[in-house]
Amino acid sequence: MPRTVQGVVSKAVGEPVTLEEIVIPDPGPGEAVVRIQACGVCHTDLHYREGGINDEFPFFLGHEAAGVVEEVGAGVTEVEPGDFVILNWRAVCGQCRSCLRGRPNICFSTHNASQKMTLADGTELSAALGIGAFADATLVAAGQCTKVDPAASPVAAGLLGCGVMAGIGAAMNTGGVGPGDSVAVFGCGGVGDGAIAGAKLAGATTIIGVDIDDRKLEWATEFGATHTINSNDEDPVHAIKALTGGNGVDVAIEAIGLPHVYQQAFKARDLAGTVVLVGVPAPDMTLELPFIEVFGRGGALKSSWYGDCLPSKDFPMLIDLYLQGRLDLDRFVSETIGVGDVEEAFHKMERGEVLRSVVVF
Ligand SMILES: NC(=O)c1ccc[n+]([C@@H]2O[C@H](COP(=O)([O-])OP(=O)(O)OC[C@H]3O[C@@H](n4cnc5c(N)ncnc54)[C@H](O)[C@@H]3O)[C@@H](O)[C@H]2O)c1
Ligand SMILES: [Zn+2]
Ligand SMILES: [Zn+2]
Repeated sequence: MPRTVQGVVSKAVGEPVTLEEIVIPDPGPGEAVVRIQACGVCHTDLHYREGGINDEFPFFLGHEAAGVVEEVGAGVTEVEPGDFVILNWRAVCGQCRSCLRGRPNICFSTHNASQKMTLADGTELSAALGIGAFADATLVAAGQCTKVDPAASPVAAGLLGCGVMAGIGAAMNTGGVGPGDSVAVFGCGGVGDGAIAGAKLAGATTIIGVDIDDRKLEWATEFGATHTINSNDEDPVHAIKALTGGNGVDVAIEAIGLPHVYQQAFKARDLAGTVVLVGVPAPDMTLELPFIEVFGRGGALKSSWYGDCLPSKDFPMLIDLYLQGRLDLDRFVSETIGVGDVEEAFHKMERGEVLRSVVVF
């Protein structure tokens, strides 16, 4: 029997999100229905509502979630009802040119459920990042369910499903941060603080958080920033050079998605260093860089999709570190809210009042 749940839907660009009845089909072959326990509010949900991802409205928002598998379709072997899972948006295909080269962590052809969830009148919904988890339940491809230790709190675990994983992976996987490295992170939201936590886990000794909000900088310190810079008060490039013997950092991570901040990251990097872009730009943005410096500074300019993570490897590993007290996922949770409070959570995010608001069910 198809289920009907209340879920958060964005119907038109810029309009407040609303709670709507959503019809979830029974899981077909290769699919699973997951009962959602918690789902974080990520800036990407707001990008969808602002029309910044694509214009395939209406969107069923929410994609940073943990829950319990309720029912699986034919042929599903990787999970079974009762499993505690984090939902991922990288269910690897195993067959695309990237997977075949042994790089499933950047799979080019990830799986989502093949059936569509709909509004009560039959209108098909676009599920955010192929998930849609601001609701009691959702339909995903079974490969989007990653089993982790059920001792973890769902509120904390769900955060690994997107932003915090993207940040940790931007530092550890894409940026290749290692012991003794210096790192600067531009934008200390959920993603940026994930990058700071990842840099600390990887053994970086200088970790510089840059933001325009002093409250965010205080929180960044709690995740491991050894220095902070408010880029409204001082030139971050100059300040970063001053903190690194005039050289710049080994790895500069942009976690906002703004061209002028990317330029700062580019200039704040040491020779042969790495710039990582994990913030998502808007479609109409362009970037200008002095071409001679792109060559002359050497190193690498990299973009990080989902922290280049492989969910089956990274989620259980990070949950183990969390349970051992070595990764403070709870610290990312500013508040828990109800499913009707997502619009207000967007405003709190814009005002800089929260790192993560997490909807609990
Ligand atoms: N690459 C990926 O796979 C991936 C995954 C998840 C999120 N994201 C993207 O990462 C970005 C950050 O997401 P988030 O959830 O952390 O957002 P957030 O709103 O919580 O954090 C953004 C931070 O940037 C700061 N900021 C804004 N303008 C600034 C400026 N000019 N200089 C310095 N700091 C500035 C804000 O004060 C805030 O602390 C978004 O673009 C989001 O879409 C990317
Ligand atoms: Zn693939
Ligand atoms: Zn996200």
